[in-house]
Amino acid sequence: MPFNVAVDGPAGVGKSTVGKLLADRHGYLFLDTGVLYRAVSLLALRRSVSPSDPQGLAAIACTLDIELLRAEPGSKHMYEVIVEGRVVTDELRSSDVESLVSEVSAHSEVRTALLERQRDIARASRSVIVGRDIGTVVLPDADLKVYLDASLEERAGRRWKELQQRGASVVYEQVVAELRRRDELDSGRATAPLRVPADARVIDTNGKDVEMVLAEIEASMGAG
Ligand code: DC
Repeated sequence: MPFNVAVDGPAGVGKSTVGKLLADRHGYLFLDTGVLYRAVSLLALRRSVSPSDPQGLAAIACTLDIELLRAEPGSKHMYEVIVEGRVVTDELRSSDVESLVSEVSAHSEVRTALLERQRDIARASRSVIVGRDIGTVVLPDADLKVYLDASLEERAGRRWKELQQRGASVVYEQVVAELRRRDELDSGRATAPLRVPADARVIDTNGKDVEMVLAEIEASMGAG
């Protein structure tokens, strides 16, 4: 099995930003597993499959046709997501998908359908895999497990700033409420809830920039 880095943590903590940079720097493959659950949610919306229909959702997950492509230089995205031949990178972040994805990802049938696919990717090459249950369930034998943490207020502040920069008019309190809701759903579900893996390197990212966090991870990889 090639060298795998598992990165877990709550919504809005910066897992994707840190994971993608880490992967690029070391020539590792990067997989943000959240996009798999988002893609299933998007197809469920398109096909009018209810978020409370585990069999219908699992059927979507089993046959999910998804590709992740490196974004063009200058793109606002780190990578483009193609589902059934169409670019859906923005749609996966829409409020429709956002409001559905925690319920969709809570079903064990959906998680089982996506499990081997994630493991196959990890087996195929050196990789940085980002999610909620990577160190605990998907890759319990990962070479390095990292758990990124930050207070609700810090994560909400970062997300609010990012949304402002993109020109979205959002109220800070709304961002806090949405993150709190997702924390509760991600940590409270019965199957593969968000947990700190027992053998993870926990990094408190409060007040730290991306470079500081990367340096801590790289020190653990023996490359820092
Ligand atoms: O990381 P994200 O916000 O894109 O994740 C979207 C949703 O998918 C989130 O509500 C939790 C879920 N998810 C999960 O349950 N397990 C993962 N490994 C990754 C994401």
